[in-house]
Amino acid sequence: MEQTANRVKELMTLYEGEFIETFRHLHQYPEMSFKEYETTAYIKEKLTGWGIEILDIGLETGVVGYLKGGKEGPCIALRADIDGLPVKEESSYAFPSKNEGKMHACGHDTHMASLLGAAHILADMREQIQGSVKFLFQPAEEINLGAKKMMSLHCLESPKVSAVFGMHNSPEIPIGTVAVKKGPLMAAVDRIIFTIKGKGGHGGIPQRNVDPIVAAAAVIQAAQTIVSRNVSPLDSAVVSICNVKAGEGTTNNVTPDLVKMYGTVRTYKEDVQKMIASRLEKITESISEAYGCEGKLEYLYELAVTDNNPLLYDAGYEAVTSIGAVPVDPIPSTGGEDFSEYLKGDAPGFFYWLGVRNEEEDCKYSWHSPKFKADEHCIAIGAGTYAMSVFTGIEAVKGNNN
Ligand code: NI
Repeated sequence: MEQTANRVKELMTLYEGEFIETFRHLHQYPEMSFKEYETTAYIKEKLTGWGIEILDIGLETGVVGYLKGGKEGPCIALRADIDGLPVKEESSYAFPSKNEGKMHACGHDTHMASLLGAAHILADMREQIQGSVKFLFQPAEEINLGAKKMMSLHCLESPKVSAVFGMHNSPEIPIGTVAVKKGPLMAAVDRIIFTIKGKGGHGGIPQRNVDPIVAAAAVIQAAQTIVSRNVSPLDSAVVSICNVKAGEGTTNNVTPDLVKMYGTVRTYKEDVQKMIASRLEKITESISEAYGCEGKLEYLYELAVTDNNPLLYDAGYEAVTSIGAVPVDPIPSTGGEDFSEYLKGDAPGFFYWLGVRNEEEDCKYSWHSPKFKADEHCIAIGAGTYAMSVFTGIEAVKGNNN
């Protein structure tokens, strides 16, 4: 493995100029979710140039590349997301977005450039691969639909994938580091919608009405006791009600018929998630009833937890350290990632965070900020980590089969 890692490191250095050029190109032409046509064409051209096959699984945007190694063996999938955001760029890059009002403000350009870099490295090293590699360039991560699309088109089948690795940049950890975490890294994200019905009327004659606003206020208060009283102090969860709608305009003397509320729940464990869903339902229905109203909760499971499989932890750790990057144990994020969709199949998965923070280069703003900026030296580290994950991943799944 040491020899393999040394070769990967050599190629990381040799191709760093190319990686950065790729990154700068992608940064200038961000495209929206499911509209990544130019990006798709660019990726296909690069991959075919290195002799990597394009598998047609029926994607309109996004690409699945396939590289067969020198020997038969397990197939490892590497995933990068490719969409940008409707954000007007205000970063200090010398090569800002040329697509007005669109920006790679979540740094998916760093993921694509890293995975293309890995593709070039692995194409050069194909004889040493004892198995094969699938390159998953996924559309529409920002709207949580791209991974679902890829899975509905069976991207992890024919050939069957034995392990899948993914990566997101992180402005929370310094350049040169990669976060390697056992267990949950990013939260399950659910949407909650409350409907509380009463009976409207004159605000000055409350005895004739059934006020859904008072019931909604009681529901909001009670929902806040779930995290403090029902979730174990050793677990974590978020229940946020972020949008409350009742009444018309600035009317001040009419009690409305209806209150609608919208919110989000974040959890890391399925039993905690199920408990919160059931408590929220009970609170909404029973409290509304006690106030003479009718309360209903819609609980929509949107993104599962991104839970790193312990089976791949050593492979992930070794991939990072063997190319000279520094592994860090991160604090999990309450943000979600649709990489979790790939974990619903039978292949184990592992997700990294690639450090991109460098305050001297103004790389310190959070995801989705118009000033977001990643230190472009992260691309070589991302490419090396992806590439080495194929070699350490093949060993890990082979070991698993024994
Ligand atoms: Ni992102």
